Amino acid sequence: MNRRIELKVSLEVIQKKDWSEEESILISRATEILELAHAPYSGFLVGAALLLEDGSIFVANNQENVSFPVGVCAERAVLSYAMGNHPNLRPLKLAIVAKRKDEKKMATVTPCGLCRQTINEYEVKFGQPIDLLMLNPEGEILKASGIEQLLPFRFNDLNS
Ligand code: THU
Repeated sequence: MNRRIELKVSLEVIQKKDWSEEESILISRATEILELAHAPYSGFLVGAALLLEDGSIFVANNQENVSFPVGVCAERAVLSYAMGNHPNLRPLKLAIVAKRKDEKKMATVTPCGLCRQTINEYEVKFGQPIDLLMLNPEGEILKASGIEQLLPFRFNDLNS
């Protein structure tokens, strides 16, 4: 029998009545900014709000392009801007929300593979996990305590 390596991952489900004030603010900032997304091709509007260790919050949304692969997700947009301007401030929490254009109800969203790898980059840079808060259509937060919950067996070391 070959040896197996297993990793267990989990998400915490947080009902609205149990959200912290910080969680409520981040979800609300992400929900506001998704309305300004440039998503004429998919009609899928995504907002992201990032809390840094000094308490500042940055927001961004997805920016699509007629040449589809050129588009940028909300998560990478907010991380690039915030980390580019504040390279020494640790990111603590990233809220992500999505909605289809013309629909009231929120859509299910979890970060794509490129964004997972990008989130990993800043966890490695600061040596700490980033809490990921994903709103589901039921109005609950799905919370991943670090990217390992979404990207097990991740690549993060050129030397090992
Ligand atoms: N998108 C994001 O911005 N974040 C995600 O987590 C999932 C996908 C964007 C990319 C594209 O503009 C649209 O949503 C549909 O995939």
